[in-house]
Amino acid sequence: MIIEPRMRGFICLTAHPDGAAQNVKNQIEYVKSKGANNGPKRVLVIGASTGFGLASRITAAYGSGASTIGVYFEKEPKEGKTASPGWYNTAAFEKKTQADGLYAKSINGDAFSNEVKQQTIDLIKADLGQVDLIIYSLASPVRTNPKTGVTHRSTLKPIGGTFSDKTVDFHTGIVSTVTIEPANEEEIENTVAVMGGEDWEMWIDEMKAAGVLAEGATTVAYSYIGPAVTEAVYRKGTIGRAKDHLEATAFTIAAKLADIKGHAYVSVNKALVTQASSAIPVIPLYISFLYKTMKEKGLHEGCIEQIERLFSQRLYTGGDVPVDEKGRIRIDDWEMRDDVQAAVAELWKTADTDTLPQTGDLAGYKKDFLNLFGFDVAGVDYAADANEMVEIPGLQKTEA
Ligand code: NAI
Ligand code: NA
Repeated sequence: MIIEPRMRGFICLTAHPDGAAQNVKNQIEYVKSKGANNGPKRVLVIGASTGFGLASRITAAYGSGASTIGVYFEKEPKEGKTASPGWYNTAAFEKKTQADGLYAKSINGDAFSNEVKQQTIDLIKADLGQVDLIIYSLASPVRTNPKTGVTHRSTLKPIGGTFSDKTVDFHTGIVSTVTIEPANEEEIENTVAVMGGEDWEMWIDEMKAAGVLAEGATTVAYSYIGPAVTEAVYRKGTIGRAKDHLEATAFTIAAKLADIKGHAYVSVNKALVTQASSAIPVIPLYISFLYKTMKEKGLHEGCIEQIERLFSQRLYTGGDVPVDEKGRIRIDDWEMRDDVQAAVAELWKTADTDTLPQTGDLAGYKKDFLNLFGFDVAGVDYAADANEMVEIPGLQKTEA
């Protein structure tokens, strides 16, 4: 069928399989162009189908020839109804890796559940024995804690006071003022329960107990800091509390892995257009100024450039892993450069609907957003009939 974007609010209801495949191919080509790195050979990526997690899986497979297992939560296609984008990304990745003789299998289900953890451990035992690297890259608005049965929902709110600043609706380009009331204690706790480190620690605990962590295994989760303009709603808001918890959990996990000479890190990544970030107020306006500035300075990176740099210049250099004073890996170093942030802060002051198309990279934002769903990708014929019923070659069947 002919597949077109159908927008609703911050999401797109359709996805294009051929556009997704082209995106994956482009990312693979990028990693290959950088040459082999000294990276891991057996890798588990939790949150492997889009954004930073997909880039991690691709970097591991094509940077160091790794066997990869991916865990994700995606909607499968039905006749006349497209799958969610991560389904098509994974299908393209596993088709290509299998053709290239690389092991790639995956599990589609709720990573927060006991069942998916057990299924993943069983698959590692059966096929890989152990893993050397575990990437934790989940972004979700909801989590059911398998121990308590309680379902937690995250919120994106400031803490301690009302927040008010500029924001943009990137579909219309209209700049307006958004006002968000502060979160209460329960909302803070719920957000930490969803996006903090508790589930990451559960994964590592269960994998260690099952003996599927190799000696010297490394685990990495992704965090964000960002500038002063987004601080009240991001780093000092509810999501920031969750990131504080995630970062603290890296130390808890590292201590638990000491006896197998393992490591646990948080990597602070750059702000990028993903399904997760486009739902956060203020961030899209910031990203449009950031993209404009970083592209002008020749510093712009997408997920794949970020993660390739994480592997080749931070994690697998053969030497110590460089970290900041809080023990975090920083690949947001170019975003946070003084000259970049000074330029963005200047642009921020001028932000309005009339000037944004010139002062901000709204076009780049929109293009990246469409690209997430496989649309507006160069080299794809969108007038051609596309097959929505794509299968994922390495998808593990589960009993319903
Ligand atoms: P994304 O939305 O592109 O990816 C989320 C992944 O999690 C997908 O693979 C999805 O299928 C999976 N997922 C969600 N719920 C799941 C569940 N219940 N069970 C199994 N899989 C599930 O998000 P993105 O942006 O790549 O985020 C990944 C991490 O990177 C997050 O921790 C985010 O905070 C962090 N980060 C994001 C930045 C950004 O600007 N996008 C910047 C810095 C860090
Ligand atoms: Na991800």
